[in-house]
Amino acid sequence: MSQKIFEQMAARLEEIKAYEINNTIELEAFRLAYLGSKNQIKPLMEEIKNVAPEMRREFGQQINLLKNTAEEKWQQYKTNLSTTASERSVVPDLSLPVNENYHGSRHPSAIIMNQIIRIFSRLGFTISKGPEIEDDWHNFTALNFPKDHPARDMQDTYFLSEDIALRTHTSSVQVRVMESQKPPIRTISPGRVYRNETISARSHCQFHQVEGLYVDEGVSFADLKQTLDYFAKEMFGVDTRIRLRPSYFPFTEISAEVDITCFVCNAKGCNICKHSGWVEILGCGMVDPNVLQNCGIDSEKYTGFAFGMGVERIAMLKYRINDIRLFFENDIRFLRQFSEAW
Ligand code: DAH
Repeated sequence: MSQKIFEQMAARLEEIKAYEINNTIELEAFRLAYLGSKNQIKPLMEEIKNVAPEMRREFGQQINLLKNTAEEKWQQYKTNLSTTASERSVVPDLSLPVNENYHGSRHPSAIIMNQIIRIFSRLGFTISKGPEIEDDWHNFTALNFPKDHPARDMQDTYFLSEDIALRTHTSSVQVRVMESQKPPIRTISPGRVYRNETISARSHCQFHQVEGLYVDEGVSFADLKQTLDYFAKEMFGVDTRIRLRPSYFPFTEISAEVDITCFVCNAKGCNICKHSGWVEILGCGMVDPNVLQNCGIDSEKYTGFAFGMGVERIAMLKYRINDIRLFFENDIRFLRQFSEAW
């Protein structure tokens, strides 16, 4: 009888030594099998009553050997696994609720930019891009801002040298397009712009704009109004109306600023529209004949309209965001709120 128990113990010892442990799950299974409260060594210990008295000492030694071997092996694998893969070594608790799997979300500036692009694409506008580091000609001079003209102060500029600056608006792309293409031209230019402004809830040193340009024979102010009316309705809803207020930009003549009826209060008056019922969304006008000429386009034959809007401004209105700094801080709590939008 004793002999058989000793054989069983020897077999257990081999089993413990040969036990394969490749990960924390197998390690836990090993622990339960040989060290846990219902381990496989315990039933062997109970056999002591069947062991001849003179063999009991050896029996005790064998039991201890089993326990120690299991304990040592467990300790050794425990440290190895936790140092090689500290994260994965945590035995997963399968009863925990499933971790919500967060996908990335589009940035609100990108969402609105894409919406603007889609709306104007439907009207046949193409997309043009230009450099963010721009020369004086494309950012200012060709757009009818003469040197030392006070209109240059409308946009505080980051100069890189006397003649080179970070573009202050995407109107610079108009110039590049007109210099390189013949009318009819119908294009929008989305992109990032920079202004040397004090950062606050209402203004930032970087933001995005979409510029629009349409040049052809017989393009009129009525075409401009119609285009912007379509845009406003597509962007803010079919009930939206627009109004144009006279304004001034060096590169357009005549110039206007465009307001839409406040969609928050249905033009009844609220904080967003400062109780006027209207909110400003963009600037526009008929391309100044000087600008056409500067870009090599015959201003006797062609006319054009242009408009420019701030993407973050549109996003702030649409999503009712009251601080432009949120767009550039990459706070995940802010960005996650747009995961449903597209
Ligand atoms: N470039 C102007 C700005 O950044 C926006 C603008 C106004 C663009 C009127 C235009 C326009 O094309 O016609 O403030």
